[in-house]
Amino acid sequence: MIIAIDGPAAAGKGTLSRRIAGEYGFHHLDTGLTYRATAKALLDAGLPLDDETIAEQMARDVELAGLDRGVLSAHSIGEAASKIAVMPLVRQALVETQRAFAVRAPGTVLDGRDIGTVVCPDAPVKLYVTASAEVRARRRFDEIVGNGTPADFLEVLADIVKRDERDMGRADSPLRPAADAHLLDTSEMSIEAAFLAAKTIIDAALK
Ligand code: DC
Repeated sequence: MIIAIDGPAAAGKGTLSRRIAGEYGFHHLDTGLTYRATAKALLDAGLPLDDETIAEQMARDVELAGLDRGVLSAHSIGEAASKIAVMPLVRQALVETQRAFAVRAPGTVLDGRDIGTVVCPDAPVKLYVTASAEVRARRRFDEIVGNGTPADFLEVLADIVKRDERDMGRADSPLRPAADAHLLDTSEMSIEAAFLAAKTIIDAALK
């Protein structure tokens, strides 16, 4: 059983995916972390972000057991990740790792940008989780400020819009809903409401 969850940055995919994985006792993989880990390895080694062969090698060395959201959450790492995510060889390497994870028993939840379209096109349940750019920026802003870091709302919004353009505009595996994905717009929904909506869709598919 594979549950594929896609959507733009800060749509709430991560929170929702963890809740769903907990509810069904499934393994969860935030695939964004694999792109982030690749980018961090390059940054740490002082290697260029625009050499596809080097980046592919780093992508092949990524180990799922070592992925730690805390270390990988830095804004600079997210920026670098979205740059190397345009490279087909990097994507190919990470997609292989993600597919190996996807078949773990008793089931998995993968979240990212291309799970329903590329990584697991046969997943029996696909959700496309989105929210308006303003709402996503507001949530991200509240999170940053909540962590005690000062932030500028308009900068956060501009950043979200730029990230969307890069994720949706790239030639290889652009962010878009799979034809058979259920759309979940959480602009006006609490986390709880989004979870219940997702659960209704999943339970119907599991029957
Ligand atoms: O979701 P995130 O911010 O951790 O993702 C970081 C970058 O990785 C994002 O800009 C796009 C890329 N990404 C991707 O291309 N495909 C995925 N399945 C997941 C993330």
